[in-house]
Amino acid sequence: MADEIKKVAVLFSGKGSNLEKLIETLHKKSFPQAATEIVPITNNPDAKGIDAAKMHGLETVVVDHREFASREEFDAKLVESIESLGADLVVMAGFMRIVTPIFTSSIKAINLHPSLLPLFKGANAIEESFKSGMKVGGVTVHWVDSTLDGGKIIAQECVKIEPSDTLQSYTQKIKSLEHTILPKTVAKLLKISFTP
Ligand code: GRF
Repeated sequence: MADEIKKVAVLFSGKGSNLEKLIETLHKKSFPQAATEIVPITNNPDAKGIDAAKMHGLETVVVDHREFASREEFDAKLVESIESLGADLVVMAGFMRIVTPIFTSSIKAINLHPSLLPLFKGANAIEESFKSGMKVGGVTVHWVDSTLDGGKIIAQECVKIEPSDTLQSYTQKIKSLEHTILPKTVAKLLKISFTP
């Protein structure tokens, strides 16, 4: 069994289905290279993902953005919390906050986005992709920088948009793709041999 423990801080704001996948695949798992641990963090005390994490026995760190006067003050507290955990990797999975240079200059993080970036940046990516007339959509994992959904791409996978698809069925396809690409990418960045 590996001695080293790799900690992954997962930032989320809502449902947390991607957080759950990361917990199921990587929390307290042992690989030849290292053992892994997930630490959930949210800005939203009402996020459904808090309950999902609890079902897996994990407490979520809550840093409520409404308690801070500015984005910068919130980011400074977030950075402090992440640094005190000693996270090896920070993952944004449905984290609905725009981060400032206070965050990006201190924390190396990745983000999951439900489109083929650089197309369809922002909060309505699934719907915009679906309505675009394109025959494919997809998901992207990228490094976080100070631009919105604009950092260097790490992984990207696509899915067909069929004439028979509805927004709902297309959303399901995107979710399924997200649930495999994110654990795979996290494992790769941690240099862990992992097959979903
Ligand atoms: C995902 O579609 C992700 O790509 C986007 O926010 C959504 C979060 O979903 N950034 P969940 O909370 O993990 O279910």
